[in-house]
Amino acid sequence: MESFGYLGSVPVGLIRLDNGEISCEVITYGAAIRSLTVPDGNGRPRDVVLGFDTLQEYRKHDCYFGAAIGPVANRISGAACELNGQVLRLTKNDGEACNHSGCAGLNARLWSVMEETDASVTLSCIHPNGLGGIPGELRVAVTYRLRGKALCIEYWAVSSRDTLCSLTNHSYFNLDGHDSGPVNGHRVTLFSHSYTPTDAHSIPTGEIRAVVGTPMDLSHATLLGDRLDLDYEPIRNAGGYDHNWLIDPNDEGMVFRPAALVRSADSGIRMSVYTDRPCVQLYTGNYIPEGLAGKGGALYHRRQGLALETQGFPDAPNHPSFQPITLRAGKAWQSRTEYRFG
Ligand code: BGC
Repeated sequence: MESFGYLGSVPVGLIRLDNGEISCEVITYGAAIRSLTVPDGNGRPRDVVLGFDTLQEYRKHDCYFGAAIGPVANRISGAACELNGQVLRLTKNDGEACNHSGCAGLNARLWSVMEETDASVTLSCIHPNGLGGIPGELRVAVTYRLRGKALCIEYWAVSSRDTLCSLTNHSYFNLDGHDSGPVNGHRVTLFSHSYTPTDAHSIPTGEIRAVVGTPMDLSHATLLGDRLDLDYEPIRNAGGYDHNWLIDPNDEGMVFRPAALVRSADSGIRMSVYTDRPCVQLYTGNYIPEGLAGKGGALYHRRQGLALETQGFPDAPNHPSFQPITLRAGKAWQSRTEYRFG
């Protein structure tokens, strides 16, 4: 493991994975994927995820570049909800809401390396009981594994008390390379026919709405540039896409199924996302600050990358119509998401 600076006096490490087809760097702060290099249409390597050069930048900016997110991904409205008849008060970090578990989420913790090979690493972390208002000591492990031209992410968690659990990864992809400007030229398909509408603060209303006939329909390959600036309320409110879609069940009734397909004609790279999660948040980097200094001197812009955060229902505890994200004490929570390149 190489050094990636110090958190106080504690060393932060950087792990390089390489299977001869694709390669990747992971840092122990936030178990964040710092780079992911895949061959383009001409066989030339391109680093397709946004990241920073230093630990200080990972700590300073709340973009969550590449990080593991949890215990509870996405927003909890009013930073409060009920569990077992008791009110949980989480920390507000997004107006009145709690986003991605507040300031004390898994993305801001130091992880330990449990196991490492040339092409895989397993990191673990403990989220202490009550931190950020979330009950239970949550033991979490995340494995990043390169298989062929795919990055496979496996999650495992167990809590000492009944709690809420919905883990994801917050990589921002740019299939032309992390330093190549906004993703407007990417074509996105979501294997979905419905989404969860939100209010002006990105809080779900509780409704599940069909996308047919609206700009939220991404069930056919859609050029992002044609949609991101539409004068359509959900898109206007979020400054682009920043919404949660319900992934269609597949014909064989398999839980692990395709969620999304992204292509860029420029690089010739395509990425398919497979997951066992019920939902996916497509976030088109609308809040990336203009001129943010990224890796290797690159300047990032608004919409420089897009995130496909596979997840449970957002704000689930506050909406009886949504599938719950409750995790019972002692029961293992497991999940798998794959990003496959071609
Ligand atoms: C959210 C965005 C938010 C971003 C960074 C995404 O998952 O959906 O609204 O700006 O994370 O916090």
